[in-house]
Amino acid sequence: MATEKTCRYTSPSNIALIKYWGKYGRQYPRNASISLTLDSAYSDTSVVYEERAHAGKEVSIDFYFEGEKNAAFQVKLEKYLNSIIDEVSFLRTHHLTIRSTNSFPHSAGIASSASAMSAVAMCLCRIENEIGKPFDSEAALLNKASYLARLGSGSACRSVYPVAAVWGAHPSIEGATNDYAIPYAEHLDPVFHTYKNDILIISRKEKKVSSTQGHALMEGNVYAASRYTQAEQRMTRLLDVMKAGDLEEFGAIVEGEALSLHAMMMAADNPFTLLEPNTLEAISRLQAYREESKVPVYFSLDAGPNPHVLYPAEYQDQVQEFIKREMQSLCHEGMVIGDQVGQGPKEVR
Ligand code: DP6
Repeated sequence: MATEKTCRYTSPSNIALIKYWGKYGRQYPRNASISLTLDSAYSDTSVVYEERAHAGKEVSIDFYFEGEKNAAFQVKLEKYLNSIIDEVSFLRTHHLTIRSTNSFPHSAGIASSASAMSAVAMCLCRIENEIGKPFDSEAALLNKASYLARLGSGSACRSVYPVAAVWGAHPSIEGATNDYAIPYAEHLDPVFHTYKNDILIISRKEKKVSSTQGHALMEGNVYAASRYTQAEQRMTRLLDVMKAGDLEEFGAIVEGEALSLHAMMMAADNPFTLLEPNTLEAISRLQAYREESKVPVYFSLDAGPNPHVLYPAEYQDQVQEFIKREMQSLCHEGMVIGDQVGQGPKEVR
């Protein structure tokens, strides 16, 4: 009888500082991006693998999300795994039972595809290491995991590294490539290792336009070429600023990026916005608080209405008091999710 074995990983989401928005070909980004890896917002994914009686042309899987069979996600996952079947040796020979849960609530403005796809990719590479061709090093394993995660969801490739990762070719970043992300923590001032990321849940409504559709709309956007130039220039500047630990300049670039991302949506051929009135109110209150308190607290936005509030841990008490006093009433049922920079995927044994 075939024996079954299990591999399990938790893998976090991430928040992009320079945004990936626009892609081509086999999920290649139109510009380089950098993100902070999160901590408490993660997917917990297990893969039970068992040899099939006969190798198949396609993958054979069962998928459970939050403990229940989920046909829609299963179809997506099958499509993804079939697309990488030549790149993972056991996908034809083994049946996989994949179970995934998220540590955070659904539709809460946390990039669930980043945590989910990076967790699956980590499991695939760990299993490959076990029963396929072993990797030469842990770095090689992470590199392949980042590559496979990218093919599942672009932003997921950045989640495999602790603290921060860069994805996408860029003239001033050695080793940066469109194929996978590279670790970036060691190039940053230590203050960024301590960053907090509180997410203000302005709305929990399902997005009207998915990220994948949003990326596609960049193709006909008359501002696209300028946007990619802007992203490249901001990246050069941001890396210098993060190396130096210049928090004001860091914040100015990060807020600029968040607004440029949403500006691209508004300027698309089929324009749309994911911002809500309370998103703008929260931004304006945060900027007024910063002006008055001189606390280096700034916001970012994903492709959704929920601001991510970014600040060094040393200001935690003040900022959380401000959030309670002035922000919580703007949030859906007063919901704020506290998170911080984290250490990347962890194997659960
Ligand atoms: C706004 O990675 O979710 O969060 O590659 O189509 O899966 P797909 O898109 P996705 O896009 C993320 C967009 C973003 C910016 C970012 O994370 O860089």
